[in-house]
Amino acid sequence: MLDDAALENSPVVANNLMNRERTLSAYSRELGMDVLAEVGAGRWLDLCCGTARALTEATAHLPEGAEIVGVDLVDHFVPNAFQGPLRLITDSVATWEPDGPSDLITCVHGLHYIGDKLGLLTRAASWLTENGLLIANFDTRSIRLPDGTPSGRRLTAALRRAGFIYDSRRHRVSLRGRRKIELPYRYIGADDGAGPNYTGQPAVNSFYST
Ligand SMILES: C[S@@+](CC[C@H](N)C(=O)[O-])C[C@H]1O[C@@H](n2cnc3c(N)ncnc32)[C@H](O)[C@@H]1O
Repeated sequence: MLDDAALENSPVVANNLMNRERTLSAYSRELGMDVLAEVGAGRWLDLCCGTARALTEATAHLPEGAEIVGVDLVDHFVPNAFQGPLRLITDSVATWEPDGPSDLITCVHGLHYIGDKLGLLTRAASWLTENGLLIANFDTRSIRLPDGTPSGRRLTAALRRAGFIYDSRRHRVSLRGRRKIELPYRYIGADDGAGPNYTGQPAVNSFYST
């Protein structure tokens, strides 16, 4: 069972094979929504933003007043990333905190590499504006009980009770509107030896007691 420091140095999390360069249209496809329409002139926070290619593209299309913040563990950002309303931060989303609320919070294929996935979803829910949208690629099978079994329907029921929508076919979780959430799961640690998940890439399983 790995803690955050060990996990962030794991070859599963810190490797060059994962796709860090998705375009803006790939973001919209992966999230099943029109990202630009959702942000409008508001603030977009992208957790685990990779090279920030999608964010950099978005700067050319968003209206005056819009703001984009990207956070990633690794500072391999595209060369023209530091421009206009885009702010890029090299930090771990396990501990990083924003300085204000966001109208859209995305995490495109980033949660697969986080230890306390439910903790991040819970914290991100509190970072939304009143009507903001949180949306992320998420596989509930990566949430495990101490004996290694997937947390299953009990977790999806707890997520729904908390206000999340979970699309199990598309492996997507979303929530509309800032909320203080408490899920009945206590994080224990992570396993980077879980093997490939539904994306085909090796991912991290996260263990919780209930
Ligand atoms: C599969 S890539 C996706 C990148 C980007 N969202 C995209 O779709 O192009 C996953 C990203 O998560 C980042 N990541 C993993 N653990 C992280 C952490 N604890 N904090 C911040 N970023 C993390 C990795 O560095 C990597 O860039």
